[in-house]
Amino acid sequence: MPTTDVAAPRVYVVTGAGSGIGQATAAQLIDEGHRVIGVDLKNTEVVADLSTEDGIAAMVEEIAALTSVVDGVIANAGTSLQAPMDVAIDFFGAVGTVEGLLPLLRASDAPRVCITASAASLHPANDDLVDAMLNGDRETAAAIGERLVAAGGGAGYLNYSSSKQAVARWVRRNALAERFVGAGITLNAVAPGLVLTPMTEPLLATEEGRQQVEEGMPSPLNGPARPEDVAAAICFLTSTAAGKIGGQVLFVDSGYDALTRGDDSW
Ligand SMILES: NC(=O)c1ccc[n+]([C@@H]2O[C@H](COP(=O)([O-])OP(=O)(O)OC[C@H]3O[C@@H](n4cnc5c(N)ncnc54)[C@H](O)[C@@H]3O)[C@@H](O)[C@H]2O)c1
Repeated sequence: MPTTDVAAPRVYVVTGAGSGIGQATAAQLIDEGHRVIGVDLKNTEVVADLSTEDGIAAMVEEIAALTSVVDGVIANAGTSLQAPMDVAIDFFGAVGTVEGLLPLLRASDAPRVCITASAASLHPANDDLVDAMLNGDRETAAAIGERLVAAGGGAGYLNYSSSKQAVARWVRRNALAERFVGAGITLNAVAPGLVLTPMTEPLLATEEGRQQVEEGMPSPLNGPARPEDVAAAICFLTSTAAGKIGGQVLFVDSGYDALTRGDDSW
């Protein structure tokens, strides 16, 4: 069933549209009759490197030349390299995309934002790194990230988990900020668990990797997700129907959150 009124096409920006969850989201929206401006490193209408401030600015400029209204921003591009690049793209890239497109969102009569966080936001994180991100301090965040990689022993992973925790907290913190709520812009996130995409393919290709995933991110409810499972949630959160939902982090995680946090999350 379509999540939006197909008689009223909307304009969506989807980052990371070249693969996995972003590609499935763009496909669903196009299927529902909407205009999708895809953004990625290659093979999309807008090609931009969202890990840098210049790349974000170029993307915003290009989109402003294509449309005067954006109804939905889906900030989904990301890496899981267990390195400072995760911080640059998964946090600063996502937040920069949303902030940069705010003027175009304000022109919509039902503006929506959804960021792709992760159930990895529930994994251990580095508090100083999370604080640096929430303070908008790219330099300190990169320096902490490098130190974590140098420490070895899997500490580099904290770049990923911390960036996803920071983005989820940023959503909670900003959903009622005047620049969003004043323009009726809803701001939410999805937090996928294990999704079968090119990002997780190499990990699942080895027995050791599969075991690591089974321990770190089990999928008790109907197994690992397909990109389309996450896309359905993103399309709902950015549809006209979701106007009263704000500051939510919707776990699309095959039960991982309920398994690990139980009812102790209130
Ligand atoms: N696959 C999973 O299990 C899983 C779980 C939780 C969260 N996520 C998140 O979902 C999002 C999408 O991941 P996916 O699994 O579809 O991965 P994917 O690798 O299939 O797609 C990610 C896309 O982002 C693009 N991208 C990466 N760096 C970029 C940059 N600097 N500028 C512009 N585009 C860039 C890539 O080119 C790629 O097309 C990511 O934010 C990821 O962290 C994935």
